[in-house]
Amino acid sequence: MASAFEFTLNGRIVRVADVSPNTTLLDFLRNSGLTGSKEGCAEGDCGACSVAIIERGADGNQPIAP
Ligand code: FES
Repeated sequence: MASAFEFTLNGRIVRVADVSPNTTLLDFLRNSGLTGSKEGCAEGDCGACSVAIIERGADGNQPIAP
């Protein structure tokens, strides 16, 4: 079953389609040339693969962190 979705990545709309449901966000980003996040332990312990997800307010501005 084909499915697609869009999200904003570094200020631009990215359409994701025809990607295996087993693809991690880390692999997707790195395969897109965004190599800032790394794979370290691959077990969820080290945090090297962390990606910041920031939800913007209705006005498009980032909410102020608590
Ligand atoms: S690579 Fe993700 S937590 Fe270590």
